[in-house]
Amino acid sequence: MAVDAPHSRVLGRYATWAGHRDTMNKTSQPESTESRYRRCTEQLAARGQDHVLRWWDDLGTSAREHLLSEIDSIPWSHLDPLIETHIRNRPEDEVRANLEPAAVFPHRPDADSAALYRGAVVLGDELIRAGKVAAFTVAGGQGTRLGFEGPKGAVTISPVRDKTLFQLFAETIMAVRKRYDVAIRWYIMTNPVNHRQTAGFLEDHSYFGLPPQDVVLFTQGMLPSFDLNGKILLEDKHRVALAPDGHGGSLKSLVASGALEEMASRGIEIISYFQVDNPLVRPFDPLFIGLHAKTGSEMSTKVATKADDFERVGNLCMHEGRVVVVEYTKFPDDLARAKNPDGSRRFDVGNLAIHLLNVAFVDRIIAQNFELPYRRAEKTVTWMDENGFQRTPPTPNAIKLETFVFDALPLAKNPLLLEVDRAEEFSPVKNAKGVDSVESAICHQIARAARWLEGAGVTIPRKPDGEPDIIIEIAPSYARNAEDVKRRVTNPPELHPGETIYIS
Ligand code: UD1
Repeated sequence: MAVDAPHSRVLGRYATWAGHRDTMNKTSQPESTESRYRRCTEQLAARGQDHVLRWWDDLGTSAREHLLSEIDSIPWSHLDPLIETHIRNRPEDEVRANLEPAAVFPHRPDADSAALYRGAVVLGDELIRAGKVAAFTVAGGQGTRLGFEGPKGAVTISPVRDKTLFQLFAETIMAVRKRYDVAIRWYIMTNPVNHRQTAGFLEDHSYFGLPPQDVVLFTQGMLPSFDLNGKILLEDKHRVALAPDGHGGSLKSLVASGALEEMASRGIEIISYFQVDNPLVRPFDPLFIGLHAKTGSEMSTKVATKADDFERVGNLCMHEGRVVVVEYTKFPDDLARAKNPDGSRRFDVGNLAIHLLNVAFVDRIIAQNFELPYRRAEKTVTWMDENGFQRTPPTPNAIKLETFVFDALPLAKNPLLLEVDRAEEFSPVKNAKGVDSVESAICHQIARAARWLEGAGVTIPRKPDGEPDIIIEIAPSYARNAEDVKRRVTNPPELHPGETIYIS
Protein backbone atom coordinates (compact mmCIF):
# COMPACT_ATOMS: atom_id res chain seq x y z
CA MET A 1 0.00 0.00 0.00
CA ALA A 2 1.88 3.00 -1.19
CA VAL A 3 0.82 6.08 0.70
CA ASP A 4 1.08 8.22 -2.32
CA ALA A 5 1.29 11.93 -1.77
CA PRO A 6 3.82 12.80 0.88
CA HIS A 7 2.13 13.04 4.26
CA SER A 8 -1.22 12.29 2.74
CA ARG A 9 -2.31 9.98 5.52
CA VAL A 10 -2.11 12.41 8.34
CA LEU A 11 -3.79 10.71 11.23
CA GLY A 12 -3.60 11.01 14.94
CA ARG A 13 -2.60 13.55 17.48
CA TYR A 14 0.52 14.95 15.92
CA ALA A 15 -0.82 16.04 12.58
CA THR A 16 0.91 19.40 12.69
CA TRP A 17 4.22 17.65 12.29
CA ALA A 18 3.07 15.86 9.18
CA GLY A 19 4.01 18.57 6.75
CA HIS A 20 6.37 20.16 9.23
CA ARG A 21 4.02 23.09 9.03
CA ASP A 22 3.60 25.99 11.36
CA THR A 23 0.72 27.51 9.50
CA MET A 24 -2.03 25.07 8.82
CA ASN A 25 -4.82 26.51 6.74
CA LYS A 26 -7.69 25.91 9.05
CA THR A 27 -10.45 27.48 6.94
CA SER A 28 -12.32 25.42 4.41
CA GLN A 29 -11.56 28.02 1.71
CA PRO A 30 -8.29 27.35 -0.09
CA GLU A 31 -5.90 30.22 0.45
CA SER A 32 -5.28 32.27 -2.70
CA THR A 33 -1.83 32.33 -4.26
CA GLU A 34 -1.70 36.07 -3.64
CA SER A 35 -2.32 35.65 0.08
CA ARG A 36 0.14 32.73 0.38
CA TYR A 37 2.76 34.79 -1.42
CA ARG A 38 2.24 37.68 1.02
CA ARG A 39 2.41 35.36 4.01
CA CYS A 40 5.55 33.61 2.78
CA THR A 41 7.20 36.96 1.94
CA GLU A 42 6.60 38.11 5.50
CA GLN A 43 7.90 34.89 7.03
CA LEU A 44 11.04 35.03 4.92
CA ALA A 45 11.66 38.75 5.40
CA ALA A 46 11.39 38.40 9.17
CA ARG A 47 14.32 35.98 9.00
CA GLY A 48 16.46 37.71 6.39
CA GLN A 49 15.66 34.95 3.89
CA ASP A 50 13.83 37.07 1.26
CA HIS A 51 16.16 35.84 -1.51
CA VAL A 52 14.14 32.60 -1.60
CA LEU A 53 11.48 34.48 -3.61
CA ARG A 54 14.04 36.30 -5.75
CA TRP A 55 12.90 34.63 -9.00
CA TRP A 56 9.16 34.98 -8.40
CA ASP A 57 8.58 37.18 -11.45
CA ASP A 58 10.25 34.60 -13.73
CA LEU A 59 8.04 31.72 -12.57
CA GLY A 60 4.92 30.27 -14.17
CA THR A 61 1.83 29.29 -12.20
CA SER A 62 2.81 25.75 -11.24
CA ALA A 63 6.40 26.71 -10.40
CA ARG A 64 5.01 29.43 -8.11
CA GLU A 65 2.69 26.95 -6.41
CA HIS A 66 5.57 24.54 -5.97
CA LEU A 67 7.84 27.13 -4.38
CA LEU A 68 5.10 28.36 -2.05
CA SER A 69 4.34 24.83 -0.88
CA GLU A 70 8.03 24.24 -0.16
CA ILE A 71 8.27 27.46 1.82
CA ASP A 72 5.08 26.50 3.62
CA SER A 73 6.60 23.18 4.61
CA ILE A 74 9.43 24.86 6.56
CA PRO A 75 8.83 24.41 10.31
CA TRP A 76 9.97 27.92 11.24
CA SER A 77 9.24 27.87 14.95
CA HIS A 78 11.27 24.70 15.21
CA LEU A 79 14.04 25.86 12.91
CA ASP A 80 14.55 29.44 14.12
CA PRO A 81 16.55 28.55 17.25
CA LEU A 82 18.52 25.91 15.32
CA ILE A 83 19.59 28.45 12.69
CA GLU A 84 21.20 30.40 15.49
CA THR A 85 22.73 27.49 17.39
CA HIS A 86 23.62 25.07 14.59
CA ILE A 87 23.92 27.07 11.37
CA ARG A 88 25.24 30.53 12.21
CA ASN A 89 27.19 29.04 15.08
CA ARG A 90 28.64 25.62 15.65
CA PRO A 91 26.95 23.70 18.43
CA GLU A 92 29.17 22.72 21.32
CA ASP A 93 31.27 19.75 20.42
CA GLU A 94 29.16 16.67 20.96
CA VAL A 95 32.09 14.61 22.20
CA ARG A 96 31.40 13.86 25.80
CA ALA A 97 33.87 13.48 28.59
CA ASN A 98 33.78 10.38 30.80
CA LEU A 99 32.83 7.84 28.17
CA GLU A 100 32.97 4.22 29.26
CA PRO A 101 32.49 1.07 27.21
CA ALA A 102 28.89 -0.14 27.18
CA ALA A 103 27.86 -3.53 28.58
CA VAL A 104 26.87 -6.00 25.91
CA PHE A 105 25.00 -9.31 25.88
CA PRO A 106 27.51 -11.71 24.29
CA HIS A 107 26.90 -13.50 21.04
CA ARG A 108 27.22 -16.88 22.74
CA PRO A 109 25.77 -17.11 26.23
CA ASP A 110 27.93 -18.19 29.15
CA ALA A 111 26.78 -20.89 31.55
CA ASP A 112 24.84 -18.35 33.65
CA SER A 113 22.89 -16.92 30.76
CA ALA A 114 22.30 -20.08 28.70
CA ALA A 115 18.83 -20.59 30.15
CA LEU A 116 17.96 -16.92 29.55
CA TYR A 117 18.97 -17.21 25.87
CA ARG A 118 17.02 -20.46 25.42
CA GLY A 119 13.92 -18.89 26.92
CA ALA A 120 14.43 -15.77 24.81
CA VAL A 121 14.36 -17.76 21.58
CA VAL A 122 11.08 -19.37 22.65
CA LEU A 123 9.57 -16.00 23.54
CA GLY A 124 10.89 -14.38 20.34
CA ASP A 125 9.25 -17.13 18.29
CA GLU A 126 5.99 -16.58 20.15
CA LEU A 127 6.02 -12.82 19.57
CA ILE A 128 6.68 -13.22 15.86
CA ARG A 129 3.99 -15.90 15.53
CA ALA A 130 1.51 -13.66 17.34
CA GLY A 131 2.08 -10.87 14.79
CA LYS A 132 3.56 -8.55 17.41
CA VAL A 133 6.62 -7.64 15.34
CA ALA A 134 6.69 -5.50 12.18
CA ALA A 135 9.59 -4.81 9.83
CA PHE A 136 10.65 -1.22 9.29
CA THR A 137 13.18 -0.15 6.67
CA VAL A 138 14.58 3.36 6.59
CA ALA A 139 15.12 4.20 2.94
CA GLY A 140 14.96 7.96 2.95
CA GLY A 141 18.68 8.68 2.67
CA GLN A 142 20.15 10.31 -0.41
CA GLY A 143 22.74 7.60 -1.05
CA THR A 144 25.23 10.21 -2.25
CA ARG A 145 28.32 8.08 -1.59
CA LEU A 146 27.00 5.17 -3.66
CA GLY A 147 26.23 7.41 -6.63
CA PHE A 148 23.29 5.23 -7.74
CA GLU A 149 20.48 6.95 -9.64
CA GLY A 150 17.32 5.89 -7.91
CA PRO A 151 16.32 4.51 -4.53
CA LYS A 152 19.06 2.51 -2.83
CA GLY A 153 16.68 -0.41 -2.33
CA ALA A 154 16.67 -0.86 -6.11
CA VAL A 155 20.42 -1.61 -6.22
CA THR A 156 21.03 -5.16 -7.44
CA ILE A 157 23.01 -7.00 -4.82
CA SER A 158 22.60 -10.78 -4.83
CA PRO A 159 25.43 -12.88 -6.26
CA VAL A 160 23.57 -15.03 -8.80
CA ARG A 161 20.08 -13.73 -9.50
CA ASP A 162 20.92 -10.02 -9.22
CA LYS A 163 18.13 -9.48 -6.76
CA THR A 164 17.73 -5.98 -5.40
CA LEU A 165 17.97 -5.07 -1.72
CA PHE A 166 14.18 -4.59 -1.64
CA GLN A 167 13.66 -8.06 -3.16
CA LEU A 168 15.91 -9.70 -0.56
CA PHE A 169 14.01 -7.99 2.27
CA ALA A 170 10.64 -8.87 0.73
CA GLU A 171 11.63 -12.52 0.27
CA THR A 172 12.90 -12.67 3.84
CA ILE A 173 9.60 -11.30 5.12
CA MET A 174 7.73 -13.76 2.91
CA ALA A 175 9.77 -16.64 4.33
CA VAL A 176 8.99 -15.47 7.88
CA ARG A 177 5.27 -15.21 7.03
CA LYS A 178 5.32 -18.80 5.84
CA ARG A 179 7.44 -20.13 8.67
CA TYR A 180 5.20 -18.60 11.34
CA ASP A 181 1.95 -18.59 9.38
CA VAL A 182 1.33 -14.95 10.19
CA ALA A 183 0.67 -11.74 8.25
CA ILE A 184 3.63 -9.42 8.69
CA ARG A 185 3.55 -5.69 7.96
CA TRP A 186 6.55 -4.09 6.25
CA TYR A 187 6.85 -0.33 6.74
CA ILE A 188 9.24 1.60 4.52
CA MET A 189 10.23 5.20 5.10
CA THR A 190 11.08 7.12 1.94
CA ASN A 191 11.72 10.80 1.41
CA PRO A 192 9.53 13.09 -0.68
CA VAL A 193 12.09 13.00 -3.51
CA ASN A 194 12.48 9.22 -3.85
CA HIS A 195 8.97 8.31 -2.69
CA ARG A 196 7.27 7.96 -6.08
CA GLN A 197 10.19 6.04 -7.54
CA THR A 198 10.28 3.69 -4.56
CA ALA A 199 6.52 3.13 -4.60
CA GLY A 200 6.61 2.62 -8.39
CA PHE A 201 9.50 0.18 -8.14
CA LEU A 202 7.71 -1.99 -5.59
CA GLU A 203 4.46 -1.83 -7.51
CA ASP A 204 6.17 -2.71 -10.81
CA HIS A 205 7.58 -5.80 -9.10
CA SER A 206 4.23 -6.71 -7.52
CA TYR A 207 5.77 -6.19 -4.09
CA PHE A 208 7.87 -9.29 -4.75
CA GLY A 209 4.95 -11.48 -3.87
CA LEU A 210 3.94 -9.78 -0.61
CA PRO A 211 0.30 -8.74 -0.26
CA PRO A 212 0.33 -5.04 -1.28
CA GLN A 213 -1.76 -4.07 1.73
CA ASP A 214 1.03 -5.31 4.01
CA VAL A 215 3.65 -3.01 2.49
CA VAL A 216 3.18 0.49 3.87
CA LEU A 217 5.22 3.42 2.61
CA PHE A 218 5.39 6.83 4.19
CA THR A 219 7.67 9.79 3.77
CA GLN A 220 9.99 11.49 6.21
CA GLY A 221 10.36 15.22 6.74
CA MET A 222 12.70 17.52 4.86
CA LEU A 223 14.59 20.57 6.04
CA PRO A 224 16.25 23.33 4.02
CA SER A 225 19.99 23.35 3.46
CA PHE A 226 21.80 26.55 4.35
CA ASP A 227 24.91 28.23 3.05
CA LEU A 228 27.74 28.80 5.47
CA ASN A 229 26.26 32.22 6.38
CA GLY A 230 22.89 30.81 7.33
CA LYS A 231 21.05 31.68 4.09
CA ILE A 232 18.64 29.07 2.74
CA LEU A 233 19.99 27.63 -0.51
CA LEU A 234 17.88 27.42 -3.64
CA GLU A 235 18.35 24.44 -5.89
CA ASP A 236 16.47 26.06 -8.72
CA LYS A 237 14.43 29.20 -9.24
CA HIS A 238 11.35 27.48 -7.88
CA ARG A 239 12.96 24.92 -5.58
CA VAL A 240 14.48 25.23 -2.14
CA ALA A 241 17.47 22.90 -1.57
CA LEU A 242 15.67 20.53 0.80
CA ALA A 243 17.28 17.47 2.40
CA PRO A 244 15.85 14.61 4.47
CA ASP A 245 15.87 15.36 8.19
CA GLY A 246 17.89 12.23 9.12
CA HIS A 247 16.73 8.77 10.14
CA GLY A 248 15.90 10.18 13.56
CA GLY A 249 13.02 11.83 11.71
CA SER A 250 11.56 8.35 11.34
CA LEU A 251 10.15 8.52 14.86
CA LYS A 252 8.14 11.66 14.17
CA SER A 253 7.16 10.42 10.74
CA LEU A 254 5.96 7.09 12.10
CA VAL A 255 3.56 9.07 14.21
CA ALA A 256 2.68 11.83 11.72
CA SER A 257 1.94 9.39 8.90
CA GLY A 258 -0.42 7.39 11.07
CA ALA A 259 1.80 4.31 10.78
CA LEU A 260 2.38 4.05 14.53
CA GLU A 261 -1.31 4.33 15.29
CA GLU A 262 -1.98 1.65 12.72
CA MET A 263 0.64 -0.61 14.28
CA ALA A 264 -0.97 -0.23 17.69
CA SER A 265 -4.41 -0.96 16.29
CA ARG A 266 -3.09 -4.15 14.69
CA GLY A 267 -1.52 -5.33 17.94
CA ILE A 268 2.05 -4.73 16.77
CA GLU A 269 4.26 -4.04 19.78
CA ILE A 270 7.82 -4.17 18.45
CA ILE A 271 9.30 -2.38 15.43
CA SER A 272 12.21 -4.22 13.83
CA TYR A 273 14.19 -1.30 12.39
CA PHE A 274 16.91 -1.74 9.79
CA GLN A 275 18.65 0.32 7.13
CA VAL A 276 18.05 -0.23 3.45
CA ASP A 277 21.76 -0.77 2.90
CA ASN A 278 22.34 -4.12 4.65
CA PRO A 279 21.60 -7.26 2.58
CA LEU A 280 22.60 -9.60 5.44
CA VAL A 281 20.15 -8.21 7.97
CA ARG A 282 17.97 -10.68 9.97
CA PRO A 283 14.93 -8.61 10.87
CA PHE A 284 13.12 -11.47 12.61
CA ASP A 285 15.75 -12.88 14.95
CA PRO A 286 13.92 -14.73 17.77
CA LEU A 287 16.87 -14.43 20.16
CA PHE A 288 17.14 -10.65 19.75
CA ILE A 289 13.38 -10.14 19.97
CA GLY A 290 13.06 -12.47 22.94
CA LEU A 291 15.93 -10.87 24.89
CA HIS A 292 14.50 -7.43 24.16
CA ALA A 293 11.14 -8.48 25.59
CA LYS A 294 12.50 -10.50 28.53
CA THR A 295 14.74 -7.70 29.76
CA GLY A 296 12.02 -5.05 29.48
CA SER A 297 14.05 -3.08 26.98
CA GLU A 298 12.29 -0.26 25.15
CA MET A 299 15.00 0.00 22.49
CA SER A 300 17.66 -2.56 21.63
CA THR A 301 20.59 -2.58 19.25
CA LYS A 302 22.73 -5.18 17.56
CA VAL A 303 26.44 -4.52 17.80
CA ALA A 304 29.58 -6.19 16.52
CA THR A 305 33.26 -6.06 17.27
CA LYS A 306 34.82 -3.26 15.24
CA ALA A 307 36.86 -4.24 12.19
CA ASP A 308 39.57 -1.74 13.19
CA ASP A 309 40.05 1.18 15.58
CA PHE A 310 38.63 3.68 13.09
CA GLU A 311 35.89 1.69 11.41
CA ARG A 312 33.16 4.03 10.15
CA VAL A 313 30.52 2.88 12.60
CA GLY A 314 29.00 4.47 15.66
CA ASN A 315 30.63 3.53 18.99
CA LEU A 316 28.36 2.22 21.74
CA CYS A 317 29.38 3.81 25.02
CA MET A 318 28.06 4.58 28.49
CA HIS A 319 27.78 8.22 29.44
CA GLU A 320 26.48 9.25 32.86
CA GLY A 321 24.71 5.95 33.27
CA ARG A 322 23.07 5.99 29.85
CA VAL A 323 23.81 4.14 26.62
CA VAL A 324 24.88 6.52 23.87
CA VAL A 325 26.22 6.15 20.34
CA VAL A 326 29.16 8.36 19.45
CA GLU A 327 29.63 8.53 15.69
CA TYR A 328 33.00 7.61 14.20
CA THR A 329 33.36 11.20 13.01
CA LYS A 330 33.13 12.47 16.61
CA PHE A 331 34.93 9.72 18.47
CA PRO A 332 38.23 10.96 19.93
CA ASP A 333 41.28 9.25 18.41
CA ASP A 334 42.77 8.39 21.80
CA LEU A 335 39.57 6.55 22.78
CA ALA A 336 39.42 4.79 19.41
CA ARG A 337 42.96 3.50 20.03
CA ALA A 338 42.53 2.81 23.77
CA LYS A 339 43.37 -0.73 24.89
CA ASN A 340 42.46 -2.87 27.89
CA PRO A 341 45.29 -4.31 30.02
CA ASP A 342 45.07 -7.55 27.96
CA GLY A 343 45.65 -5.61 24.73
CA SER A 344 42.08 -5.83 23.44
CA ARG A 345 40.31 -2.72 22.13
CA ARG A 346 38.58 -0.84 24.95
CA PHE A 347 35.73 0.63 22.89
CA ASP A 348 35.17 -2.33 20.69
CA VAL A 349 31.52 -2.45 19.72
CA GLY A 350 30.08 -0.75 16.68
CA ASN A 351 26.49 0.17 15.88
CA LEU A 352 25.03 -2.05 13.14
CA ALA A 353 21.96 0.19 12.88
CA ILE A 354 19.68 -2.77 13.59
CA HIS A 355 17.28 -1.83 16.35
CA LEU A 356 14.12 -2.98 18.06
CA LEU A 357 11.85 -0.21 19.29
CA ASN A 358 8.66 -0.66 21.23
CA VAL A 359 5.65 0.99 19.65
CA ALA A 360 4.76 2.33 23.10
CA PHE A 361 8.26 3.83 23.46
CA VAL A 362 8.03 5.75 20.18
CA ASP A 363 4.56 6.93 21.13
CA ARG A 364 5.81 8.08 24.53
CA ILE A 365 8.81 10.06 23.35
CA ILE A 366 6.87 11.80 20.59
CA ALA A 367 3.87 12.50 22.83
CA GLN A 368 6.20 13.97 25.47
CA ASN A 369 7.85 16.12 22.80
CA PHE A 370 11.34 14.75 23.36
CA GLU A 371 13.56 16.18 20.68
CA LEU A 372 16.41 14.11 19.36
CA PRO A 373 19.45 16.38 19.16
CA TYR A 374 20.11 17.96 15.78
CA ARG A 375 23.49 17.34 14.18
CA ARG A 376 25.14 19.78 11.86
CA ALA A 377 26.67 18.26 8.72
CA GLU A 378 28.66 20.17 6.13
CA LYS A 379 27.85 18.80 2.66
CA THR A 380 28.16 19.62 -1.01
CA VAL A 381 24.84 20.83 -2.41
CA THR A 382 23.98 21.98 -5.91
CA TRP A 383 22.66 25.52 -5.68
CA MET A 384 21.56 28.44 -7.81
CA ASP A 385 23.50 31.66 -7.42
CA GLU A 386 22.10 35.17 -7.68
CA ASN A 387 22.85 35.20 -11.42
CA GLY A 388 20.72 32.11 -12.03
CA PHE A 389 23.77 29.81 -12.50
CA GLN A 390 23.22 26.34 -11.06
CA ARG A 391 26.51 25.32 -9.43
CA THR A 392 27.98 22.22 -7.83
CA PRO A 393 31.13 23.19 -5.92
CA PRO A 394 34.05 20.78 -5.33
CA THR A 395 34.01 21.26 -1.56
CA PRO A 396 31.20 21.45 1.03
CA ASN A 397 29.19 24.63 0.65
CA ALA A 398 26.15 23.80 2.72
CA ILE A 399 24.97 22.88 6.17
CA LYS A 400 22.29 20.27 6.66
CA LEU A 401 20.53 19.39 9.87
CA GLU A 402 19.73 15.81 10.80
CA THR A 403 18.66 13.78 13.78
CA PHE A 404 19.77 10.19 14.35
CA VAL A 405 17.54 7.39 15.57
CA PHE A 406 20.20 5.99 17.89
CA ASP A 407 19.94 9.19 19.92
CA ALA A 408 16.71 7.69 21.26
CA LEU A 409 18.76 5.03 23.12
CA PRO A 410 19.52 7.25 26.14
CA LEU A 411 15.76 7.87 26.46
CA ALA A 412 14.92 4.16 26.55
CA LYS A 413 14.34 2.09 29.65
CA ASN A 414 16.68 -0.92 29.97
CA PRO A 415 18.32 -0.52 26.53
CA LEU A 416 19.83 -3.83 25.47
CA LEU A 417 22.88 -4.35 23.27
CA LEU A 418 23.32 -7.75 21.69
CA GLU A 419 26.61 -8.72 20.11
CA VAL A 420 26.29 -10.62 16.84
CA ASP A 421 28.68 -12.16 14.36
CA ARG A 422 29.08 -9.43 11.75
CA ALA A 423 29.88 -11.95 9.00
CA GLU A 424 26.37 -13.34 9.51
CA GLU A 425 24.40 -10.11 9.73
CA PHE A 426 26.20 -7.02 8.51
CA SER A 427 27.52 -5.91 5.16
CA PRO A 428 26.48 -2.31 4.52
CA VAL A 429 26.45 -0.95 0.99
CA LYS A 430 27.72 2.60 1.24
CA ASN A 431 30.32 3.16 -1.47
CA ALA A 432 30.63 2.61 -5.20
CA LYS A 433 33.83 0.56 -4.76
CA GLY A 434 36.03 -1.10 -2.17
CA VAL A 435 35.04 -1.31 1.47
CA ASP A 436 31.27 -1.41 2.12
CA SER A 437 30.36 -1.60 -1.56
CA VAL A 438 28.13 -3.78 -3.76
CA GLU A 439 31.23 -5.84 -4.54
CA SER A 440 32.09 -6.47 -0.88
CA ALA A 441 28.43 -7.26 -0.05
CA ILE A 442 28.34 -9.89 -2.81
CA CYS A 443 31.53 -11.51 -1.44
CA HIS A 444 30.03 -11.52 2.06
CA GLN A 445 26.80 -13.15 0.83
CA ILE A 446 28.78 -15.89 -0.93
CA ALA A 447 30.99 -16.43 2.11
CA ARG A 448 27.95 -16.72 4.38
CA ALA A 449 26.18 -19.17 2.05
CA ALA A 450 29.40 -21.24 1.87
CA ARG A 451 29.63 -21.39 5.67
CA TRP A 452 25.99 -22.43 5.97
CA LEU A 453 26.50 -25.23 3.44
CA GLU A 454 29.71 -26.41 5.10
CA GLY A 455 27.80 -26.55 8.38
CA ALA A 456 25.43 -28.96 6.64
CA GLY A 457 28.27 -31.21 5.49
CA VAL A 458 28.74 -29.83 1.96
CA THR A 459 32.36 -29.49 0.82
CA ILE A 460 32.96 -26.04 -0.65
CA PRO A 461 35.71 -25.72 -3.25
CA ARG A 462 38.07 -23.00 -2.05
CA LYS A 463 40.85 -20.97 -3.67
CA PRO A 464 44.38 -21.03 -2.18
CA ASP A 465 43.56 -17.88 -0.20
CA GLY A 466 40.56 -19.64 1.39
CA GLU A 467 37.86 -17.75 -0.50
CA PRO A 468 35.05 -19.91 -1.95
CA ASP A 469 35.85 -20.93 -5.54
CA ILE A 470 32.20 -20.96 -6.39
CA ILE A 471 29.36 -18.44 -6.76
CA ILE A 472 26.42 -19.35 -4.55
CA GLU A 473 23.19 -17.69 -3.61
CA ILE A 474 20.72 -19.11 -1.10
CA ALA A 475 17.21 -17.69 -1.43
CA PRO A 476 15.52 -16.69 1.84
CA SER A 477 12.70 -19.07 0.87
CA TYR A 478 15.20 -21.93 1.24
CA ALA A 479 17.02 -20.84 4.36
CA ARG A 480 17.31 -17.79 6.58
CA ASN A 481 20.16 -19.17 8.69
CA ALA A 482 22.65 -22.01 9.07
CA GLU A 483 20.20 -24.18 11.01
CA ASP A 484 17.67 -24.04 8.15
CA VAL A 485 20.33 -25.28 5.72
CA LYS A 486 21.36 -28.07 8.07
CA ARG A 487 17.76 -29.19 8.29
CA ARG A 488 17.21 -29.12 4.54
CA VAL A 489 20.41 -30.68 3.19
CA THR A 490 19.94 -34.39 3.71
CA ASN A 491 22.31 -35.68 1.06
CA PRO A 492 25.28 -33.25 0.65
CA PRO A 493 25.90 -32.73 -3.10
CA GLU A 494 29.35 -32.53 -4.70
CA LEU A 495 30.21 -29.00 -5.82
CA HIS A 496 32.84 -28.15 -8.44
CA PRO A 497 35.28 -25.23 -8.57
CA GLY A 498 33.99 -22.32 -10.64
CA GLU A 499 30.34 -23.45 -10.46
CA THR A 500 27.45 -21.02 -10.09
CA ILE A 501 24.67 -22.31 -7.87
CA TYR A 502 21.32 -20.83 -6.91
CA ILE A 503 19.47 -22.61 -4.11
CA SER A 504 15.77 -21.91 -3.67
C1 UD1 B 1 25.12 4.68 9.82
C2 UD1 B 1 25.17 5.04 11.31
C3 UD1 B 1 26.35 4.37 12.00
C4 UD1 B 1 26.28 2.88 11.77
C5 UD1 B 1 26.26 2.59 10.27
C6 UD1 B 1 26.03 1.11 10.01
C7 UD1 B 1 24.40 7.32 11.10
C8 UD1 B 1 24.68 8.75 11.33
N1 UD1 B 1 25.34 6.47 11.41
O1 UD1 B 1 26.21 5.33 9.21
O2 UD1 B 1 26.31 4.62 13.41
O3 UD1 B 1 27.40 2.27 12.37
O4 UD1 B 1 25.16 3.28 9.64
O5 UD1 B 1 25.91 0.88 8.64
O6 UD1 B 1 23.33 6.95 10.73
N2 UD1 B 1 18.41 7.48 6.12
C9 UD1 B 1 17.11 7.86 6.01
N3 UD1 B 1 16.83 9.19 6.10
C10 UD1 B 1 17.78 10.14 6.29
C11 UD1 B 1 19.11 9.73 6.40
C12 UD1 B 1 19.41 8.38 6.32
O7 UD1 B 1 16.21 7.04 5.83
O8 UD1 B 1 17.42 11.32 6.36
C13 UD1 B 1 18.72 6.04 6.04
C14 UD1 B 1 19.51 5.71 4.78
O9 UD1 B 1 18.63 5.40 3.72
C15 UD1 B 1 20.32 4.53 5.24
C16 UD1 B 1 20.54 4.79 6.72
O10 UD1 B 1 19.56 5.71 7.11
O11 UD1 B 1 19.55 3.34 5.13
C17 UD1 B 1 21.95 5.22 7.14
O12 UD1 B 1 22.29 6.44 6.63
P1 UD1 B 1 23.79 6.79 6.25
O13 UD1 B 1 23.88 8.22 6.00
O14 UD1 B 1 24.23 5.86 5.17
O15 UD1 B 1 24.59 6.48 7.61
P2 UD1 B 1 26.13 6.09 7.81
O16 UD1 B 1 26.94 7.32 7.97
O17 UD1 B 1 26.56 5.17 6.77
